Amino acid sequence: MDARDKPGHGELGDQGLGGTVGEALDETAAALAAAGIDEPRRQARRIMVAALGLSPAEVFAHPHRRLDREEHARIQAMVRRVAAHEPLSRITGHREFWGRDFVLSRDTLDPRPETETVVEAVLARLTDREQPYRFLDLGTGSGCLLLALLSEYPQASGIGVDVAYGAAITARHNAARLGLGERASFVAGDWGAGLAGGFDAVVANPPYIATADLAALMPEVRDHDPRRALDGGADGLAAYRAIARDLPRLLVPGGLLAAEIGLGQADSVAEIIIAGGLAVERVAPDLAGIARVVLACRLG
Ligand SMILES: C[S@@+](CC[C@H](N)C(=O)[O-])C[C@H]1O[C@@H](n2cnc3c(N)ncnc32)[C@H](O)[C@@H]1O
Repeated sequence: MDARDKPGHGELGDQGLGGTVGEALDETAAALAAAGIDEPRRQARRIMVAALGLSPAEVFAHPHRRLDREEHARIQAMVRRVAAHEPLSRITGHREFWGRDFVLSRDTLDPRPETETVVEAVLARLTDREQPYRFLDLGTGSGCLLLALLSEYPQASGIGVDVAYGAAITARHNAARLGLGERASFVAGDWGAGLAGGFDAVVANPPYIATADLAALMPEVRDHDPRRALDGGADGLAAYRAIARDLPRLLVPGGLLAAEIGLGQADSVAEIIIAGGLAVERVAPDLAGIARVVLACRLG
């Protein structure tokens, strides 16, 4: 065995995993902790779920279930990759958002839980779920925002736009998997350019990291999310400026904008949106209490 074959810091040797689910869970959590992975126990449980095809409840309920060789090897392979800072969602190719399963691809951002604040904010503002709203999702990625909304408004329809052709294809695939394909269309394009108006709400989670800050992001993000999903230009606000210009044309009078923002961006983004001709209604916090979504409307 030469140095490359030896288990490194945070990896598991063949003998490292125990023979039962419970032992494997403990060993995995310890290996991930040693590799400096956040929330190692939670990650270890997610690995068990993904590698064994069990529900979280089954992992919890059957700690004495014995692992066969193949299961053991699958867990080991996943542990190595997660210990090397690859997100589990990239390894499995799936991420849950708004209680639904989304397929990811190399062109899509891995959807984040805080982005669900955009969906909540729209639901709180457009309270009649039976209206045939038309939604526009700018920078749709996996399609998670548009598809979450369409799942809540059964009469609504919408368009998702992404500059990455591969993202539009993945979003279309997700729409079909979720049974929403008839009401959702996805196109490759540059924000709202080339789209006619008539939208009741525009949602967007644009790239908002300043270019100079990209290098310091966690490797899970920097090395695995597409750069164009992250890079917001010199001050992180370039996408908001580009989007704001088109909003009065895209929205119906009284139409709503719900845009996700990064840490500390509320005032700057509100200013850009007001300069674009909309009225800012409020800034909604996420579950951590961080200002996360700017809500604005086109005055009628
Ligand atoms: C932060 S990601 C959000 C993805 C998805 N909406 C989500 O919340 O998970 C931003 C998205 O904007 C897209 N994007 C970047 N520049 C764009 C442009 N000029 N026009 C349209 N989409 C763009 C990226 O490809 C990426 O999918």
